[in-house]
Amino acid sequence: MCGIVGYCGPKNATGILLDGLKRLEYRGYDSAGIAVQNAGRVDVAKRTGKIQDLRSVVPPSFAGNCGIGHTRWATHGGVTDANAHPHSDASGKIAVVHNGIIENYVQLKARLSSEGFVFASETDSEVLAHLIAYHYDGDLEKAVRATLAQVKGTYGIAAMHADEVGRIVGARNGSPLVVGVGDGEMLLASDVTAMIAHTKQVVYMEDGEIVTMTRDGFSITDLKDRKLDKKVDSVTWDLDEIEKEGFACFMEKEIFEQPETIARTLSGRLDPEYATGKLGGLNMTSRELLGVRRIKIVAAGTSWHAGLVGAYLIESLARIPASAELSSELRYRNSVVEQDTLYFAVTQSGETADTLYAMRELKRKGARVLGICNVVGSTIARESDGGVYTHAGPEIAVASTKAFTSQLAVFYSFALLMARMRDMSVSAGARYVKGLQAVPELVRGVLKQRDLIQTIAKKYSRARDFLFLGRGLEYPVALEGALKLKEISYIHAEGYSAGEIKHGPIALINEETPSIFLVPDDSLREKVISNMKEIKARRGPIIAFCCEGDDEVAAIADDTVTLPKTDELFYPFLMVVPLQLFAYFCALELGRDVDQPRNLAKSVTVE
Ligand code: M6R
Repeated sequence: MCGIVGYCGPKNATGILLDGLKRLEYRGYDSAGIAVQNAGRVDVAKRTGKIQDLRSVVPPSFAGNCGIGHTRWATHGGVTDANAHPHSDASGKIAVVHNGIIENYVQLKARLSSEGFVFASETDSEVLAHLIAYHYDGDLEKAVRATLAQVKGTYGIAAMHADEVGRIVGARNGSPLVVGVGDGEMLLASDVTAMIAHTKQVVYMEDGEIVTMTRDGFSITDLKDRKLDKKVDSVTWDLDEIEKEGFACFMEKEIFEQPETIARTLSGRLDPEYATGKLGGLNMTSRELLGVRRIKIVAAGTSWHAGLVGAYLIESLARIPASAELSSELRYRNSVVEQDTLYFAVTQSGETADTLYAMRELKRKGARVLGICNVVGSTIARESDGGVYTHAGPEIAVASTKAFTSQLAVFYSFALLMARMRDMSVSAGARYVKGLQAVPELVRGVLKQRDLIQTIAKKYSRARDFLFLGRGLEYPVALEGALKLKEISYIHAEGYSAGEIKHGPIALINEETPSIFLVPDDSLREKVISNMKEIKARRGPIIAFCCEGDDEVAAIADDTVTLPKTDELFYPFLMVVPLQLFAYFCALELGRDVDQPRNLAKSVTVE
């Protein structure tokens, strides 16, 4: 979604802003712009399209040392140059960029218009520029504070005034903002990736906070102008983690990183001596964990699919009733919160609005909510009662891959911990630990099938519709496979439980609609084979992902990808990776923009 970057320091701000915006591209956007202070004025350049399009319209005269920039993902108003940010007031001295939604902008716009303010865009954000102008009496921070007092909604903003040279004012409510503390320079961004090339020292802003920065430092206050003491954190990853490193795109790189990222997530989370899981960040004693009678998981998209696998595992291994629900549903449902229910909010970005608001609603009702997050310092990570970082490293491609397998790894560790506190024996626990530790190497083996998967993807990439079918633990993986294909290739795909097709979806089957079957060597294999035969009888093409040596499945399928054998619990790791590759190669074949698919954003910070 929208991204913000700001810079004040000794260097030319233009290049830094454009490079910062380039780093924010992965979030998804449709237009971009920058504003730079320059000899008593603020120069603005903005346009629809990509950052290279913006670069081409920024003249060399944009030479100031202080500026702000923005990538816009349209919500209010179409994708036009005028709707792109920054927005300015009539004098052109103020420039503002905004992430989020100003809910009462219609009323504010009407009031300002009646007082003679003229609007240049259809956006909600432009009211901020005019309101700041309305309140401005020589002190930008004061004007921003007065403006925010009138605004309802969510925002992350950065503002500048031509007469306050070298100063940026930012504020946050429901949309992330991070301050970067450099050596003689300061940065502001909605996302650490935009500033990591300049500093790894950051301050995460909370809702209700306002920052004023110059090259010499910053001060953060609350909305009532009380000064706050904020901790400076160090970012633990490096710039090369957000480079493509020889891969054609980030998604490919992230798929191939999975042997390492899964191992990293598991590192220190398994205790082979006592054959159990070790998750210190839960902030819960063994006695409290023993008292948990139900587990509920809330998440969206791919993270929800990981939650479905997690719920299945927890229930079958630890014998604790567990379920996963879409956060967008839970947040508006008057759900019952029981004393001994433990909640998990699962999220790669830690900023997904649906999941964040679901979590806040649950916490208001007294629930204990743990986070499973990838982005360190993200809002959900900070507001949860404890939790686990997935440590998959920055995930840049919009389509989530390595974050998913790392979320799985967390659930596998947690299910083990809970199971060992209940029914699971030491010997069963030891077998499980060994099996789990072997997963990264098995995934490495699966990745070697890339050429075969590419060939199959080429053969089928012109199909209009796909079904993805699996049962048990493979059912959520089928959902995930279908989501991946939809997201990046724009081919229509549906994930179903293979047992469910006869209840309706089988009506879609004909010679042109391929079905992807996930058939591991598990207790449901025979049932899935029966489902395959139902499809074959209707002449539907079948691509099967099954275990090495499974001739029966290979004989039914038109195309087969074989995977190594493992304990039946661990197949989701091995099954999802070839599905990611399949989606990737289909998208490549169709010439899609794999990393930044149309209409999608990396972290969905609006409803
Ligand atoms: O950052 P989150 O995990 O909370 O994001 C949730 C979904 O928006 C996300 O998984 C989305 O479905 C991805 N594009 C999937 O590839």
